[in-house]
Amino acid sequence: MSEHHLSDKDTTAILDERTIEQDPLKLFQLWFDEARAARLPLPEAMTLATVNAEGKPSARMVLLKQVDHNGFVFYTNYHSAKAQELDANPQAALVFYWATLEHQVRVEGRVSKTSAAESRAYFSTRPRESQIGAWASPQSDVISDREELEQRKREYEDLYRDRDVDCPEYWGGYRLLPDRIEFWQGRVGRLHDRILYERQGDRSWRISRLAP
Ligand SMILES: Cc1cc2nc3c(=O)[nH]c(=O)nc-3n(C[C@H](O)[C@H](O)[C@H](O)COP(=O)(O)O)c2cc1C
Repeated sequence: MSEHHLSDKDTTAILDERTIEQDPLKLFQLWFDEARAARLPLPEAMTLATVNAEGKPSARMVLLKQVDHNGFVFYTNYHSAKAQELDANPQAALVFYWATLEHQVRVEGRVSKTSAAESRAYFSTRPRESQIGAWASPQSDVISDREELEQRKREYEDLYRDRDVDCPEYWGGYRLLPDRIEFWQGRVGRLHDRILYERQGDRSWRISRLAP
């Protein structure tokens, strides 16, 4: 990993725009693999920030389920608050933080829904309990109490007792196609490295260094 070696003075890794990957997805994959190898808890957890029609932001954690040149994929309930915000304004941002590696990655771009076939295919790989949960939980709605949720869970367990759980039509993925990706590498003395990739075309990116 030439872009990610130890410097003479620091004990931490560095980012150097002269030797860095030209493709931010490759660098993302390297850092993600490193976070997994370091056995960090939930390396795939990311903050998703959305903005509603009035320009008010909100953020919450979701799990990255797939990443490639088509974008960053997460799954959710299409009736949830986040989904309503994304319907009104498809611009969103993601933040990863891998603490012991002193790595932050910020991703910005536009989301689109995954195809129904893709969502169903992923849904079918989920644990049965999570599948039932997708039916039982009207995500982001106000509910009367915990018992309402447990009752709904029992109803769907009964309904699907002897068969595979269908993917609800309101459940599926979003794919964020990045137009900006920033890699932040913690360095000693607070002079951290920040390298920004801005999309120029399908697979071409402008690379700049930002002050920390
Ligand atoms: C570590 C972690 C991972 C999560 N992953 C997801 C996820 O992949 N999809 C999801 O819909 N909610 C996930 N959640 C729950 C969301 O943070 C959030 O509570 C929920 O999606 C409702 O958000 P909304 O009301 O803004 O739509 C996760 C929460 C945590 C703490």
